[in-house]
Amino acid sequence: MGATPRNPGMTESTPPSVLDRLKGQRVLVTGGAGFVGSNVVARLIELGALVTVLDDFFTGEEQNLPPASEQLRVVRGSVVDESTVIPLVAAADYIIHMAARNIIISMRNPREDFATNIGGTLNILMAARGSNVRRIVYASSASVYGNPRSIPINEEDATNMLSPYAVSKYGGENYCKAFFESYDLPVASVRYSNVYGPLQRPDNPYCGVVARFFAAVMAGEAPLIHGDGEQTRDYTFVDDAVEATLLAAVSARADGQVYNVGTGRETSVNQLVDTIIRITGRDVIPLHIARRDIDNIRRRVLGIEKARRELRWAPDVTLENGLRKTHEWLMRPGGLPRQVRV
Ligand SMILES: NC(=O)c1ccc[n+]([C@@H]2O[C@H](COP(=O)([O-])OP(=O)(O)OC[C@H]3O[C@@H](n4cnc5c(N)ncnc54)[C@H](O)[C@@H]3O)[C@@H](O)[C@H]2O)c1
Repeated sequence: MGATPRNPGMTESTPPSVLDRLKGQRVLVTGGAGFVGSNVVARLIELGALVTVLDDFFTGEEQNLPPASEQLRVVRGSVVDESTVIPLVAAADYIIHMAARNIIISMRNPREDFATNIGGTLNILMAARGSNVRRIVYASSASVYGNPRSIPINEEDATNMLSPYAVSKYGGENYCKAFFESYDLPVASVRYSNVYGPLQRPDNPYCGVVARFFAAVMAGEAPLIHGDGEQTRDYTFVDDAVEATLLAAVSARADGQVYNVGTGRETSVNQLVDTIIRITGRDVIPLHIARRDIDNIRRRVLGIEKARRELRWAPDVTLENGLRKTHEWLMRPGGLPRQVRV
């Protein structure tokens, strides 16, 4: 076999990674009990970081979090509360800022969305201004692009706010950019597109479509598709989103930057549902119902060249494999709750 010397103690399953530099670092994860946040927390713990979660458990859940340990501290509180935020930010080397009211809540109550998504972000940035934080990563959203003029959508393409949620996520992102430009605050933003995977709980009424479709199909019920189902999205497996987020935290080039986090592959809702039905092996037929006001974006797929180039990141999990992993997770004891609102 080849004569390439191996680092003793390093196995094929643990290749050296720039993320290893997070070992022993103090990382504040706001919204860390939520779907993406809890996956970030699990990965950080695996990497040896010392994690503090700040979450008000509005949509987040205790059961998402790894067991309490010396590496994990959980603070129940709101990013809107300055007196909670200031000491936590002061004690952090890195901040992954995920706390947000999601699109469904935002649609019902834009004021609540504004207070958390913009006000909470401003609190984090203000507190970080005089601190020693090495990098803040802000979880933004592909919803800032609205209905794009062309696809795939690249970071410098026009933004177009079609929902109060898009406004607030973009507002937070713009504050990040402004704090970088005005105060040299080291901050990067990642624009996620339809993240799915383990820990997206279908019994959470605010969860994304993938979990909802799985819950319906696994219960032998017709998945409900809003509109004709030909609307497309870029579905991103959560492990890939987590990796991109942490690379944005440690990459030397990420300060003041915005990165699309998707797959570069466009999938219609009909294709998504067909794949879920095939994977689960259930005999159900989707039901098309009226379009909702949050479904006003026809096509979306992200260009991810910038993240490939600058973060040296690439999505690793195909939709088929990601959906299989999601299915496996839902099949575990306790994975799929008995009573699921779909
Ligand atoms: N999941 C996706 O497809 C997706 C797509 C684009 C952007 N995002 C962004 O990624 C982040 C995580 O999304 P998610 O899907 O995990 O959503 P989520 O609702 O599961 O997680 C959000 C977390 O923030 C917490 N939170 C809400 N308001 C808070 C407050 N005032 N103070 C402290 N904690 C608060 C919630 O309890 C929850 O744990 C959000 O910022 C979201 O806007 C997600």
